[in-house]
Amino acid sequence: MFSDLVDDMGDMDGYSIEPKFFLDVPFVPTDDALIQAMFNMAGVNKKDVLYDLGAGDGRIVILAAQKYGIQAIGVELDPMRVSEAMEDAANARVEHLVDFIEADIFDKDVDISEASVVTLYLMDSVNVLLRPRLLNELRPGTRIVSHAFDMGDWQADEELDLGGITLYKWTIPAQVEGVWQCEGPNDEVYHLELEQQYQQVTGQVWVDDQPAVLVQASLNGSLLELSIQMASDQPVQQARLRFEYGAESPELEWL
Ligand SMILES: C[S@@+](CC[C@H](N)C(=O)[O-])C[C@H]1O[C@@H](n2cnc3c(N)ncnc32)[C@H](O)[C@@H]1O
Repeated sequence: MFSDLVDDMGDMDGYSIEPKFFLDVPFVPTDDALIQAMFNMAGVNKKDVLYDLGAGDGRIVILAAQKYGIQAIGVELDPMRVSEAMEDAANARVEHLVDFIEADIFDKDVDISEASVVTLYLMDSVNVLLRPRLLNELRPGTRIVSHAFDMGDWQADEELDLGGITLYKWTIPAQVEGVWQCEGPNDEVYHLELEQQYQQVTGQVWVDDQPAVLVQASLNGSLLELSIQMASDQPVQQARLRFEYGAESPELEWL
């Protein structure tokens, strides 16, 4: 479907058209039912700011503004689509909530850091190229939902099959890799050495210089939940570390 269209773009009916810009994927719109499923999967709410990267005719952006009254921004390289999107936004009376930026989604001058939800309908290879931008520039906790395409070796947190079309959801993980020290409920010192691959966290823990077992680590946005056991005959303790954006060290909370 999609890849056939990409092959056809450079040579239509034998004419070789010199494009003024290069589109990584052609325009194929997401239908309204799927858009709603993407919103539901992302858990879009009134506090969100949504970015659609490769926004096409702006339908996701316009629907987000209409349904939730939120600020929504589309980034789109094709000027014809941008004009269409602006016209549709005016007809839908949401111009005050939306913005369309005529730019390449890989252009670093386009600031995407305000997003709390990002929607994508690109291609898996394009998602993989975009992945470092998303991981480095979006805040921990930002949800990403992709129509039909995955993100390479970054496993989705959720997948939803809708009649043969898969939607994928990821949450931007905080950067938790490193060496951390924090105090426990009885003034004991926890020393953590953590490694991270996307939202997967492994590592080692010492409590007052004694090695403990990190039974489980689960990272969701800026929240890292740890199950720690001092010895096999000891109860498993649950700790919650909050890695606030920009904070020097995490806040520890015991459950
Ligand atoms: C499959 S359409 C999806 C449109 C819309 N997001 C939707 O789901 O209805 C992909 C859009 O990305 C745009 N696009 C492709 N490469 C781009 C790039 N490098 N920067 C910005 N937009 C791009 C295309 O022009 C097209 O409108």
